[in-house]
Amino acid sequence: MYHCFDMKAVLLAGGFGTRLRPLTLNTPKPVVPIFDRPFLYHQIDLLQQVPEIDEVILSLNYRPERIKEVVGYGEDAGLPIRYLVEPEPLGTGGAIKYAEPYLDGTTIVFNGDVLTEIDLGAVVERHRSSRATATIVLTPVNNPSAYGLVETDSQGNVSRFLEKPDPNEITCDTINAGIYVLEPTSLHRIPTGTKYSIERSYFPSLIDKNETFVAYIDKGYWLDIGTPDKYLQGHRDILDGRCESGQFIQTSSNDPTIETGTSLDTSARLEGPCFIGTGSTIHADVNITRHSVIGSGTIIETEAAIHQSIVWSDCHIGQGACLDGTIIGHRCQIGAYAELGPGVVLGDDSVITPYSKLNDA
Ligand code: GDD
Ligand code: MG
Repeated sequence: MYHCFDMKAVLLAGGFGTRLRPLTLNTPKPVVPIFDRPFLYHQIDLLQQVPEIDEVILSLNYRPERIKEVVGYGEDAGLPIRYLVEPEPLGTGGAIKYAEPYLDGTTIVFNGDVLTEIDLGAVVERHRSSRATATIVLTPVNNPSAYGLVETDSQGNVSRFLEKPDPNEITCDTINAGIYVLEPTSLHRIPTGTKYSIERSYFPSLIDKNETFVAYIDKGYWLDIGTPDKYLQGHRDILDGRCESGQFIQTSSNDPTIETGTSLDTSARLEGPCFIGTGSTIHADVNITRHSVIGSGTIIETEAAIHQSIVWSDCHIGQGACLDGTIIGHRCQIGAYAELGPGVVLGDDSVITPYSKLNDA
């Protein structure tokens, strides 16, 4: 039975974001800022491609109050939001099961950390025309070992799903992109109230039971932003126009993107593409080079240099300090002439004394 209206979307946003610590200690991964905008807004923007979706269910566990604080009830998001907080982490499948009472038809599920330009309308269309129980978006990657490896047959049906394959188990380059269309009638196989993985149990079970499980291979931009390197890469890709995410920044040129209410000294050098957030202050002789992202309300003192780094909101960067390939959280204070090298990631409210030298080595 296929319902064409009243679709729901479930955003799986309950993980701990361990690989992005310390950034995710205060800011859960789904609301980590991308150019000053909570990441999951981007996914809600994508969901608006499907007019039948009338509600987004945020499936939460870790720090739900922080997510509510940032996202509210969808006033800025454009779709009504329902919060579902699991009593304990139920895993990706258990989380969907927990949302089952609120699902009344074909449902779109999204991992909360994938940056993509997927044509969701086309995915839903494929799901319906195949009368599928489940449809999964796949993307090609160079090394599938950090993902769910998905094999397909000549008809485009999923023939094997192997989560986090060992190197010797890699048989193809297509992986689970973390975007699914599911019929809720298929959720009966998930036990209630226990930890259950959609990747390790639900998908393999569809294959075992010969259900119609269809792959949609997408060759467009795709990135899981869940590690510091990938988080930096996502910003670079948007700035360079590889991921044309108009919602994040308005320009696709190589000029710096400068938001409103910034104070820029005329002697500051800004090399684009880079991003300077609302209300930030850039003093004399500051040097900001390409792919740098400065959050709102941040103050950068004279002669400081920012190279390929991401600075969240309300930081203070002292005179002559230098950041190169680093990510620093909200409200950090970097003392004068401190040097932070590639791979350094500082959590919110970090204080670095003047002349400190930090690098990942
Ligand atoms: N509600 C809830 N409860 N959400 C959860 C839970 C949970 O217990 N565990 C994880 N999540 C959410 C995370 O917040 C994230 O948005 C999503 O589920 C996926 O979890 P990750 O921890 O990011 O998984 P991964 O990146 O290692 O692997 C997954 O994503 C890959 C694509 O990026 C798998 O789905 C792979 O198969 C896939 O290739
Ligand atoms: Mg992930």
